[in-house]
Amino acid sequence: MKITVITGSPRRKGTSALLADKFIEGAKDAGHEVLRFDAAFEDVKPCLACEYCANHNSECVRRDAMNTWYDKMIASDMVVFVTPLYYYSMSTQIKTVIDRFHANNGKLAGNKKAMIFATSYGADDWTMEALEKNYESILRFMNWEDAGKLFAIGCPSREIIENSEFPSKAYEFGKNIK
Ligand SMILES: Cc1cc2nc3c(=O)[nH]c(=O)nc-3n(C[C@H](O)[C@H](O)[C@H](O)COP(=O)(O)O)c2cc1C
Repeated sequence: MKITVITGSPRRKGTSALLADKFIEGAKDAGHEVLRFDAAFEDVKPCLACEYCANHNSECVRRDAMNTWYDKMIASDMVVFVTPLYYYSMSTQIKTVIDRFHANNGKLAGNKKAMIFATSYGADDWTMEALEKNYESILRFMNWEDAGKLFAIGCPSREIIENSEFPSKAYEFGKNIK
């Protein structure tokens, strides 16, 4: 399976980056092909809502990293979102990539699986509620099938998450992709 992992943290060695590392390790051990797109370190500009794409065969008017990534994402069988929780939603860095799906929505929609991994400081039973709903709505709109969610609540630091069950769970998610 071809998998695109999109990360959203500006911390290269943060909590969500660890989940991405472990997931990728598991997925590669299981023989999958993984491409990683670290949105915070790529040049990705916000959607202009200009609708240039609507009249230009899905070509985005923006000139940035997305131009080369559209085809890779379209060719993927699975898209995995890995984000820190920022004000109860995905980080801006990853949301900016999702907004840019707009130009190629028709080509991206359908025939894909998706997963979400998220980390947070908070550990309430509602901490990930809004994020989960948002993810589910995105999947419903994209007609993608959910293949797993891992919400690492109560994980504000690398030390805490390293001593939790979440990294090994992320590995297992990758290893057991069907
Ligand atoms: C701008 C910002 C907003 C945040 N918002 C939330 C939040 O709404 N709820 C929460 O529990 N933690 C929040 N946090 C904490 C992060 O989700 C948490 O520290 C996470 O582990 C960071 O992941 P990272 O190390 O991969 O960047 C926020 C942190 C930042 C910097």
